[in-house]
Amino acid sequence: MTPNVLVTRRLPSAVLARLESTCHVDLHTGADAIGADALKARAVGKSAIVCLLTDTIDDAVLDAAGPSLKVVANVAVGYNNIDVAACRARGVVVTNTPDVLTNACADFTWALILAVTRRLGEGERVVRAGTWPGWGLDYMLGTELRGKQLGLVGLGRIARAVADKAPAFAVTVAYTSRSAELRGATAMPLDRLLATSDIVSLHVPLTPATTHLIDRKALAKMRRSAYLINTARGPVVDEAALAWALRERLIAGAALDVYEKEPVVHSDLLGLENVLLIPHLASATTETRTAMADLAVSNVLAVLAGQAPVTPVP
Ligand code: GLV
Repeated sequence: MTPNVLVTRRLPSAVLARLESTCHVDLHTGADAIGADALKARAVGKSAIVCLLTDTIDDAVLDAAGPSLKVVANVAVGYNNIDVAACRARGVVVTNTPDVLTNACADFTWALILAVTRRLGEGERVVRAGTWPGWGLDYMLGTELRGKQLGLVGLGRIARAVADKAPAFAVTVAYTSRSAELRGATAMPLDRLLATSDIVSLHVPLTPATTHLIDRKALAKMRRSAYLINTARGPVVDEAALAWALRERLIAGAALDVYEKEPVVHSDLLGLENVLLIPHLASATTETRTAMADLAVSNVLAVLAGQAPVTPVP
């Protein structure tokens, strides 16, 4: 029997065609996320769900899908939107898309570091507003990277790729990790990393232990001249606390790609000049998003063919 697969967002057509060659595809074609009710309704009787980080896969969706469901393939490396324990309890395989997005996300982390330390957001706003007074020797000065310390919180694939690119900017690298090691960089506990780094970049998955890891106390430990970069998950940072730290100039600036309640951004952040606000774009290149969709489809096809998934979540 031809398996039925729910795909919650348009995929590149060549990738979709791979899936359609062996499966009936129920594709959500709307411009917005599918929404909880439609997700539940359309999950019924499906063998696989290809979903995005904006889709919550919980007991309700799994119950609605029923026993035919074999695999949930997230088109993202993070999978905090999926109740993995609930899937496992039902024998449903969960997969994600590691590796293929590592380089794009590392490039993007450096883009944010450069943009916030060199005040590109502020500069662009001034030019567009027509309020640029003209070149000035001390106009909109930023911070140079050379000789500074980049502190990586977490040491997964993306953090390592960010560290790989550090020599290009002559920065030293520190990191927190319970077990992994990184040659040429200095391991340190979070408190010390926060207190000594010029740039703190977050690379941890969202779990109960990392929710609000960066809160008022953590921000107060940072240098007044330091910058915070978040390309991980929004709730790792307490946005209200961050707005307070930025307003009080306890840190120099922040660059955010992710938010606690996407697509809503904490209103206190919107009025601040020293924070760069980007709409969750770290993996958003044509090459990478195509590779992510392709990997998700490979995972579905493998599981439905009775084979091991390519990239099951750990
Ligand atoms: C994006 O945030 C991802 O987890 O792939």
